[in-house]
Amino acid sequence: MRAVVYHGPGQKAWEEVPDPEILDEGDIIVRVDAVTICGTDLHILKGDVPEVHQGRILGHEAVGTVEEVGDGVHTMTPGDRVLVSCISACGTCRFCREGRYGQCLCGGGWVLGHTIDGTQAEYVRVPFADMSTYRVPGAATDEEILMLADILPTGYEVGVLAGGVRPGDVVAVVGAGPVGLAAIAGAQLYSPSHIVAIDLSDARLEAAKHFGADVIVNNSRQDPLEVIRELTGDLAGRLGVDVSIEAVGTPATFELAVQLARPCGRIANIGVHGKSATLHLDELWSKDITITTGLVDTSSTPALMRLVASGEIDVKRFVTHHFGLDEFDEAYDVFGRAADTGALKVVLSR
Ligand SMILES: NC(=O)c1ccc[n+]([C@@H]2O[C@H](COP(=O)([O-])OP(=O)(O)OC[C@H]3O[C@@H](n4cnc5c(N)ncnc54)[C@H](O)[C@@H]3O)[C@@H](O)[C@H]2O)c1
Ligand SMILES: [Zn+2]
Ligand SMILES: [Zn+2]
Repeated sequence: MRAVVYHGPGQKAWEEVPDPEILDEGDIIVRVDAVTICGTDLHILKGDVPEVHQGRILGHEAVGTVEEVGDGVHTMTPGDRVLVSCISACGTCRFCREGRYGQCLCGGGWVLGHTIDGTQAEYVRVPFADMSTYRVPGAATDEEILMLADILPTGYEVGVLAGGVRPGDVVAVVGAGPVGLAAIAGAQLYSPSHIVAIDLSDARLEAAKHFGADVIVNNSRQDPLEVIRELTGDLAGRLGVDVSIEAVGTPATFELAVQLARPCGRIANIGVHGKSATLHLDELWSKDITITTGLVDTSSTPALMRLVASGEIDVKRFVTHHFGLDEFDEAYDVFGRAADTGALKVVLSR
């Protein structure tokens, strides 16, 4: 088969590799029908995720058809249409028992396209298939369901739920890439009073408006701190946002997200960071803030799937570009130059 193989920072190729095989009784082999590229794949290519070794097949999001099932798989049969989630779960370890699948101790967590071969391929082996894949509801299209593999649960769990968004809150989202936009869509479910989207790209800020941002700030031209002070300053004691969500993954954006929060505010970091950021404890120690970090668990996937299937969350807007499965070079180029191309999610399908 062919697959996107990582060859060290800055290098990848769509090339011929051996077909995946069942290695454990809980495995399935999925024929990839639709697949996408994540901001995290760009981090890997920058060298920010050093545990990804050369030779690894990238990708952790897919919708496909079950080809083959291991002897220990109970809920899937060949021919089933499934969502392959970015997080796998053994289902029995201490963390899986608490729904904290991202932290799985027994070979699950974020493994696809990270520590085992991933989904940017014609076929993929998925471990712990009963816990790590989801049967797709009939009416939804492959590309709608594909948005549930990573960005929607990530924005919702690591941004909105970890940040504790409540009705009436002012929420800032730093970074309006697909994950930041998913956080905006998820925050909407809680009726915040204002959502402020901050990004360097006008195209992405324009998209943020469609997903529900009330205020957009291009921080290459405008100081987000000033905008937020103006927005929240007239409400006594509420200088700053209630919840600040970081969805970029750089020291500067993390520090900005922290700066934007009011005293007693909450800062939810989603971004994957390759470098340390400074925590200004000399300014923060008395502000009573809460900072959360998180790897997505995807425990919200069933609930989000119902919201997508019922049209409560409009996922069609995420998909801006379509490619054939063998057009990864073009797709990475378009996704990697999102500020110029306006790309949000690119979908490659058979
Ligand atoms: N924690 C998790 O479980 C998890 C899961 C998936 C993705 N992620 C991470 O979430 C982050 C966002 O993912 P994505 O797919 O949306 O990435 P992306 O690269 O498509 O989007 C990042 C956005 O940040 C903007 N940006 C860059 N520098 C900025 C700055 N200085 N100020 C304001 N905006 C800036 C870019 O213009 C872009 O729109 C990435 O770091 C990704 O690795 C984390
Ligand atoms: Zn991802
Ligand atoms: Zn586990």
